[in-house]
Amino acid sequence: MQTKGKYYITTAIAYTSGKPHIGNTYEAILADAIARYKRCDGYDVHFQTGSDEHGQKIETRAIEAGCASPKEFVDAVSGDIRRIWDKVGTSYDRFIRTTDDDHVRQVQKMFKKFYDQGDVYKGSYKGKYCTECEAFYTDSQLNNGKCPVCGGDVHEEEEEAYFFKMSKYTDRLINYINEHPDFIQPVARKNEMMNNFLLPGVQDLCVSRSSFKWGIPVDFDPGHVVYVWLDALANYITGIGYDVDGNNSEDFNKYWPCDLHLVGKDIIRFHTIYWPIFLMALDVPLPKQIFGHPWLLQGGEKMSKSKGNVIYADDLVDIFGVDAVRYFVLHEMPFDNDGTITWELMAERFNSDLANTLGNLVNRTIAMTNKYFDGIVSNPHVDEPVDEDLKKVVTSCYKTVEEKMDGLRVADSITEIFALFKRCNKYIDETEPWILAKDEAKQDRLRTVLYNLTESIMIGAGLLYPFMPDTATRIAADLNADIRAFDSLETFGLYPDGNKVSSQPTMLFARKDLAEVLKATEEITRLQKEDYIKTQTTAIENLEKAGRSFDADKIRQNLAAIGEGAVSDEEVIDIESKPEIEYDQFASMQFQVGEVIKCEAVAKSKKLLVSQVRVGSRTLQIVSGIRKYYSPEEMVGKKVMVLVNLKPAKLAGVDSEGMLLCAEGADGELSLMVPEKKMPAGAEIA
Ligand code: MSP
Repeated sequence: MQTKGKYYITTAIAYTSGKPHIGNTYEAILADAIARYKRCDGYDVHFQTGSDEHGQKIETRAIEAGCASPKEFVDAVSGDIRRIWDKVGTSYDRFIRTTDDDHVRQVQKMFKKFYDQGDVYKGSYKGKYCTECEAFYTDSQLNNGKCPVCGGDVHEEEEEAYFFKMSKYTDRLINYINEHPDFIQPVARKNEMMNNFLLPGVQDLCVSRSSFKWGIPVDFDPGHVVYVWLDALANYITGIGYDVDGNNSEDFNKYWPCDLHLVGKDIIRFHTIYWPIFLMALDVPLPKQIFGHPWLLQGGEKMSKSKGNVIYADDLVDIFGVDAVRYFVLHEMPFDNDGTITWELMAERFNSDLANTLGNLVNRTIAMTNKYFDGIVSNPHVDEPVDEDLKKVVTSCYKTVEEKMDGLRVADSITEIFALFKRCNKYIDETEPWILAKDEAKQDRLRTVLYNLTESIMIGAGLLYPFMPDTATRIAADLNADIRAFDSLETFGLYPDGNKVSSQPTMLFARKDLAEVLKATEEITRLQKEDYIKTQTTAIENLEKAGRSFDADKIRQNLAAIGEGAVSDEEVIDIESKPEIEYDQFASMQFQVGEVIKCEAVAKSKKLLVSQVRVGSRTLQIVSGIRKYYSPEEMVGKKVMVLVNLKPAKLAGVDSEGMLLCAEGADGELSLMVPEKKMPAGAEIA
């Protein structure tokens, strides 16, 4: 295939502060899918990823871990990142580390160039710093005194520092963004950057630090290290051989400007404001596009070790296999909004999409070919009108996917490919091969049907390859053919006539039992908590040894939070037993989810609240003795468990048409029973 040109794609480089979770790994998988797609589509692709290894946060983590040097610490974590990227099958061309010599040297030269040309000047910094995000903030940018991005603590910093004159370049950048509407994607992120940062005026950026040591030294002023974001952003050009003195490598000349910087939405500001300005100061062309992808959340929440809700890619791969994980994150992530992952969702998708739709299709097709024709696929062309729609869907899939991929709509592309597989399943239902098999006269029709299925699966597998390379390769091996090249995906009928499929095909996706998955994940969570408690306890000792009591306090709080969930010696209470009941007695009580839409205190009582509770399309008035534990304001909006067929009664003169269910603690404290997941008002509780 003739090359369509070059395509340079990068991910953000992950911090080596700890093992990356499935959210960080999602980005590597997404970039990999795009890189593989572009390769299949005929581009000369260069895919770069790596690890971001300097800064205050990492220096602290190294102390916490008791490492002899920060380098020892980052060597281990960077190795972990690379291992996980490899485990999920990322096909990067370079894994850059910001401690690599070639990178360090160029960053020093850049800093010197900025200084020499007057873009950088020396001053002193006084303000707020978020170590977690390695970012400076003014008071007005804070959110209730906390970091506006991660919500964590910020602290006062005062130190001698170098500053970059951002204002010198902002007008140029504004013009550039206006003239290049595709530069920042999705568009909503572009508007956010323009309105919130660029148009109000960008402040000069502090680009060196002098209060700690772990960074690239400013070679002409040894008390300073280069600000970690300047260091990290530079990886995109140093990694392909940029040289400040103009001795650029062939790769740099070939691949720069970058076609796509893929980054998370939280760091788009660094990539669309600071990075282009640094490049302008270096007189290097700007990248073509920066795409800020949404976040993958664990059941709707940010993943955090102290919450004990982190999901790691390697655990997922151990349970579901690499392609199932790739499928899940690529397919489930919306284009603009955050996506959700839970072990349950993962198992559900695995069974419905992978085991049922895809696995069954391939297995059934191969099994029927083996059963009816000793594995030989041939096409006697006994065509029928029903074949036409199948062929149309299959041969038009590449065009549709291509359009989606041009807009970086990766989830939609996979949906299209699975629509092809679903169409094949429908074709089996339409043609009923098992009925054809019973009729001697229909053998050639049956051969044609199985040929059409085999050919369709091969085209689907060719398209699937960038997203699920192992699966596509296994399907092709079982069908005893090569993965179909992209330029032959619009032609039907290329599967070799008379070819023999495998007599013992691999099981692509064996259904998962949800209970077993959950049991395994409980164990994973337990081990993670244990490990967290152990590493944090060591961290306290090591930080105290190093005289860092502030951080030690914070860790103690985290430990206390996770410890509550980890210990099992919680208080229990026993209550008096009631006589056994029949199932019918239980079934006669009707429980439903209700939503409190209005609530007020009952005038004649100190204990009672009266709530208006929406249950389906009805509204029930319910009086409950919970005033000591809930204020009327906090009741409104709550989803509660309601006994709806309790005979109406009057309490303190007010009608009550049901009962809100509560648990009662040892000291009589009441806690409303609320659904553990989001549930509509009216949902039956049984
Ligand atoms: N080191 C910086 C990036 C420097 S790039 C010059 C950094 N590292 S990170 O480890 O915190 O994040 C790496 C990438 O993962 C970022 O693009 C970040 O937005 C992304 N994600 C972090 N959490 C994520 C999710 N929960 N979901 C999806 N992406 C997530 O930022």
